[in-house]
Amino acid sequence: GTAARDGHPRPGGPADSPFIRACRRRPGPHTPVWFMRQAGRSLPEYREIRASVPMLESCRRPELVTEITLQPVRRHGVDAAILFSDIVVPVAAAGIDLDIVPGTGPVVAEPIRAAADVERIRPIGRDDVPYVDEAVRQLVVELGDTPLIGFAGAPFTLASYLVEGGPSRTHAKTKALMYGDPELWHALCGRLAEVTLAFLRVQIEAGVSAVQLFDSWAGALSEADYRRYVLPHSTAVLSGLSDAGVPRIHFGVGTAELLGAMGEAGADVVGVDWRTPLDVATHRIGPDKAVQGNLDPAVLLAPWPVVEAEVRRILAQGRAAPGHVFNLGHGVLPETDPDVLTRVVALVHEVSSRRADQ
Ligand code: CP3
Repeated sequence: GTAARDGHPRPGGPADSPFIRACRRRPGPHTPVWFMRQAGRSLPEYREIRASVPMLESCRRPELVTEITLQPVRRHGVDAAILFSDIVVPVAAAGIDLDIVPGTGPVVAEPIRAAADVERIRPIGRDDVPYVDEAVRQLVVELGDTPLIGFAGAPFTLASYLVEGGPSRTHAKTKALMYGDPELWHALCGRLAEVTLAFLRVQIEAGVSAVQLFDSWAGALSEADYRRYVLPHSTAVLSGLSDAGVPRIHFGVGTAELLGAMGEAGADVVGVDWRTPLDVATHRIGPDKAVQGNLDPAVLLAPWPVVEAEVRRILAQGRAAPGHVFNLGHGVLPETDPDVLTRVVALVHEVSSRRADQ
């Protein structure tokens, strides 16, 4: 790993790391790589810690957050850590009664359907999420030169959980509210954008080196509806951080038709899923942003020669972008063999550094 072992980071620190350099479209020693959901159920050391601790409770214990966040860095030698938490943590801190049910995901006790429900979402600050502040401060020390990524859920994806009451394939109730009561929809998303912005500011003030805004379910929308109902709120979050001095990553799934619009929200890096080749994505996003992605997480379940060929293809297509952060197109699947993740990190580093030597 790149973490300083003696607690004294080298002069450059995380800001000079391959990951931050790629986010800023600067050349570096190799293509950086990390994995969405890298700190999770594919790791036996994670399952051991979580065996007796419910998900949300584990997010509220700084010593557990720190340990779980470090596990994939130690094991795989990834170029960045991502804070162990969940997108619903700030919403719970804002006063919404919810739980994360194993095998299901976030479940909301009283879904949001009316103006009075929106009022239940209170503004938050550091004192509402002290465990996040503490964990980030501790992690920044432990990680040395390795950057820590903070994150939050984007207004649309959060709204979907809050309106549906839980995970949804169709987002039908969410869309019914969006189309049926645009005023209430914008009030809800405006409130969520404030919570999200405040939550990201807490993480940035505590020392994260970059942030990722997860709009995982934005791909459920047409470009026109995305622009009308979602983009202003994601822009409020991302552009609201333009003075914060850390790169901003904006990610969604199934967003091939939305990449251009998502790139307008104010991020420095746009995450791309496996459906769109990175050279095509770059063309849609434009030359002033880096890209992140985009190995299909299911490919990691295939024989190694298949994985290797896909990694090489993605690195080659990523060369069309002004900056490339290697990642999966979505999160690590729980049944993934962690040793394959470790091999992918080594391969990405090897292939991309040899290329730089030529
Ligand atoms: O990347 C990381 O390793 C950091 C940890 C992280 C978690 N959730 C931990 C978690 C991150 C970045 C998230 C973000 C998140 N949470 C998103 C956006 C990313 C994405 O996947 O699109 C979303 C949509 C959620 C909501 C959520 N929380 C879902 C859909 C689930 C899965 C439900 C299940 O059990 O299959 C969760 C639970 C969750 N969040 C787990 C973890 C490790 C699993 C809970 C457990 O281990 O018991």
